[in-house]
Amino acid sequence: MEKKNIDWSNLGFGYVQTDKRYVSTYKDGAWDDGVLTEDATITMSECACVLQYAQTIFEGIKAYTTADGRIVTFRPDLNAERFANSAARMEMPVFPKDRFVDSIKQVVKANEAYVPPYGTGATLYIRPYMFGINPVIGVKPATEFQYRVFTTPVGPYFKGGAKPITIRVSDFDRAAPHGTGHIKAGLNYAMSLHAIVDAHNKGFDENMYLDPQTRTKVEETGGANFLFVTKDNKVVTPKSPSILPSVTRRSLMYVAQKYLGLEVEEREVLFDEVKDFAECGLCGTAAVISPVGKIYDHGKEICFPSGMEKMGPTITKLRETLTGIQMGTIEAPEGWIVEV
Ligand code: PLP
Ligand code: COI
Repeated sequence: MEKKNIDWSNLGFGYVQTDKRYVSTYKDGAWDDGVLTEDATITMSECACVLQYAQTIFEGIKAYTTADGRIVTFRPDLNAERFANSAARMEMPVFPKDRFVDSIKQVVKANEAYVPPYGTGATLYIRPYMFGINPVIGVKPATEFQYRVFTTPVGPYFKGGAKPITIRVSDFDRAAPHGTGHIKAGLNYAMSLHAIVDAHNKGFDENMYLDPQTRTKVEETGGANFLFVTKDNKVVTPKSPSILPSVTRRSLMYVAQKYLGLEVEEREVLFDEVKDFAECGLCGTAAVISPVGKIYDHGKEICFPSGMEKMGPTITKLRETLTGIQMGTIEAPEGWIVEV
């Protein structure tokens, strides 16, 4: 199979249309068999529930080319599980978990020519999503849905790749107490659009959101969870009912403990403690683990000792171990790597 003529090493995090995508429709209480199609467009009613009331959820996964040339994905069962939880919270039908994993494999296989070669630093980003498609005007859930999966080859989420970024403490919230912060609903990202534009306009790469109830505890950013490293090399991550349970974060905490022998803590993290940490990183499928060099808080700056030039030592080790597992150069825990 011949790869597409793409400058893999210089890809950013953007959309490149690939050849095939998967579509399955839910109608009269059941999912159809699903097909691969070349049509990258969607036609729907002007009154579709997704357009009027934002009934949409999604996932993000990557496919990797391993050092020995296999194409693999990373823990898709966890994305299937989270997608099912998102659907239930949004009054949408669950797409069966085995079919979710199978649809991902089908789409990656059909777009094999777009899976970046090993060593380029790029990956194939996979976007499963589901939305309410029939007309709805009174506020209520749809009764007809589409589940779709498309792929796009991507490079680093933040410009500069693994170079430390600067974030600011946001005055806007991305989630509400008892709201939908813990699921992957499009509405959470709609909430964050003004905040990210405002952050970028002011020269920051991302927003740090605090807990919406008390504004004293660290939650997450618009698209990633936080990991902190203490001065005595413990790995700490915030626990909160309104953050997304990141697959990457859960995997990195396991790697920290079982591969690197570090102490780990998942607990509430007060914003007041942040100035005492040695390293800070953002973790997610798109972000992998991106180092944070500086946090701006209303005129004050928190500068991590790891600086603005390179990642700190523990985040470097975490990143190397996780990407080694994903690219097949380090042995993976049972079930983490799923061949396409
Ligand atoms: N938090 C938010 C708000 C996200 O959008 C994402 C991205 O998926 C994450 C965290 C990281 O989750 P994961 O590691 O499962 O990609
Ligand atoms: C991911 O990491 O897969 C995400 O969904 C983050 C996204 C906002 C790009």
